[in-house]
Amino acid sequence: MKDILTAPFMVEMIRTTTNMYAHGWDERNGGNISLLLDEAEVAEYLDMHPIRVLETGFAAPELNGKIFLVTGTGKYFKNVQYAPDVNLGIVRLTENGTKAELLWGYTDGGRFTSEFPAHMMSHVARMKVDPLNRVVMHCHPANLLAMTYVHDLDEKAFTRTLWQMCTECIVVFPDGVNVLPWMLCGTNEIGIATAKKMETARLVVWSQHGIYGAGKDLDETFGLIETAEKAAEIWLKIAHLPLKNTITDEQMHLLEQRFGVKARDGYLQ
Ligand code: 13P
Ligand code: ZN
Repeated sequence: MKDILTAPFMVEMIRTTTNMYAHGWDERNGGNISLLLDEAEVAEYLDMHPIRVLETGFAAPELNGKIFLVTGTGKYFKNVQYAPDVNLGIVRLTENGTKAELLWGYTDGGRFTSEFPAHMMSHVARMKVDPLNRVVMHCHPANLLAMTYVHDLDEKAFTRTLWQMCTECIVVFPDGVNVLPWMLCGTNEIGIATAKKMETARLVVWSQHGIYGAGKDLDETFGLIETAEKAAEIWLKIAHLPLKNTITDEQMHLLEQRFGVKARDGYLQ
């Protein structure tokens, strides 16, 4: 059996959590990631025998038998690289997603992130739109978070502001950004609400809390959040200054043509 710490998915997860911490997006235990794994690939590293069984607190029949690498609750992204087996776990969902068999990790007796409902329900929602989706990522980037205190939370307005801040935003997230009002985190309710928003966009802002991103791999999902966060940073730099120039809707249409993307219906004139 091969060493799990050499598995490409593990190496990439460790690099991503380390990088996210370095970006300041994951203070203390802030943020969490779930990565859908391929069963045959996991079987090269693990005997697939459950170590313990955890209750999920919700049902997700679509995910029955699916295996995820997930950050642990209360764990610090900064520490993942030093103790991956304590801070990460590999779980297989069973019994219609009501249970999760621990196959590896959480060696201090821990469990998956408290945001497991939002992650798993978002996976279900994104898989229906894009069967290649494998990642759900949550973090607390300061500029996007700050923006939710002073910007209108209307999704179209929020998206248009971000699109106008960097030329490539509309190319990276043509579906825009969906926005949830403040809600209690770590609950099934915020999970259901997040998954609903994930039906129409790969980015979902949690007002006064952070952001969720979804994508086909860790690099792409990181890049998605990185792009939105950069736009939010620029907006915070200019929002209080007299605006002299912007990216017009006409120019946005040129970007759509040049890059072969289609902006969210009704978001451009
Ligand atoms: P966990 O430590 O349970 O992953 O929670 C962190 C977080 O960001 C909650 O929204
Ligand atoms: Zn959070």
